Amino acid sequence: MTTISAPGKVHLIGEHSVVYGKPAIIAAVGLRCHVDAEKSDNVIIESADFGNAEYGLEEIFEIEKKVADLWKKGNSTNNFSALFEYVKTDKTMPLLISAGVALKKAGSKGGIKLKIKSEIPIGSGMGSSSAIAVTISKAAAEIYGREFSKEEINSTAFEIEKINHGNPSGGDNSACCYGGFIWFQKKQPKNIITPFMANAPEIFDKFLLLNVGRPVKTTGELVQAVRDLPEGFRIPRLLTLEKLTHEMKEALGKKDTNGVKDAINDAQQMLSELGVSTDKIDKIASDVRNLGGAAKLCGAGGGGTVLCFHENSEELKKLLKKTGFAYWDAELGAEGVRIERL
Ligand code: MEV
Repeated sequence: MTTISAPGKVHLIGEHSVVYGKPAIIAAVGLRCHVDAEKSDNVIIESADFGNAEYGLEEIFEIEKKVADLWKKGNSTNNFSALFEYVKTDKTMPLLISAGVALKKAGSKGGIKLKIKSEIPIGSGMGSSSAIAVTISKAAAEIYGREFSKEEINSTAFEIEKINHGNPSGGDNSACCYGGFIWFQKKQPKNIITPFMANAPEIFDKFLLLNVGRPVKTTGELVQAVRDLPEGFRIPRLLTLEKLTHEMKEALGKKDTNGVKDAINDAQQMLSELGVSTDKIDKIASDVRNLGGAAKLCGAGGGGTVLCFHENSEELKKLLKKTGFAYWDAELGAEGVRIERL
């Protein structure tokens, strides 16, 4: 049996604007998804979060073909609702699709048994689906003897993510695959994925992640809601997020803690204006800001993870404890996808 793991991720800055070709700074986090994988005649899924299922290989490739067709239709009409409805027909569907895409890419003639255990809260802006996509892509390649590079694993994971979310930027899966910190920009013909030099441990070590609960809306729905905003309202805020991303990069380079905090707080303001925050997140962000720190939502928003920073971690922890929600040390810059056991 082979065990693969991949980390979750958080956007330090740049979610949503990254969908429109603006840069984002994304960090892998300490929470990981683990997959035990072995060869099997069929495709067998075991997951506490998604349930268990067993399908024949032919059926899996039929599902894979069906969702690929639905994606193409969605892409040509800019409406992925038929795809999302189909994916929702079975709780295990996201994992079955992941297995189908990964096995096809690995050119396998056999199936796979996958036991998935993830520490990453589902649908909470921490890249749970990307971490799964990356681990399953790597697992299928490993057990069928394909020596895929990280770039190839990432491209398979991106195919899976497109089926999960319609037209994602590809930033989430890249962060989960490569790990560390990345400067990510969606570009034709090739995305820019640059390791971001994280030479400010005194800043990075002070980040905490608070989970305010699973969002009601999916990433695809929240991205669509931003797209549906009038251009005149949306574009200036996306441009501000772009500017803030550059300012954050500069502040991190200079180890300018106040500059980092300003970028985070202003980004939260922009995301809130774009309608992807919640009253709860706005309140927590304002409390952290009043304490002298910084906080913003992570990923698509609508709930989920809040990235919090304060020079005094103990003071910040006291405040977060009062919210009643679970929080973790972010452990920013965690290692990307790796083989745990061969
Ligand atoms: C989701 O984690 C991040 C978004 O920017 C979507 C994307 O990048 O595809 C909201």
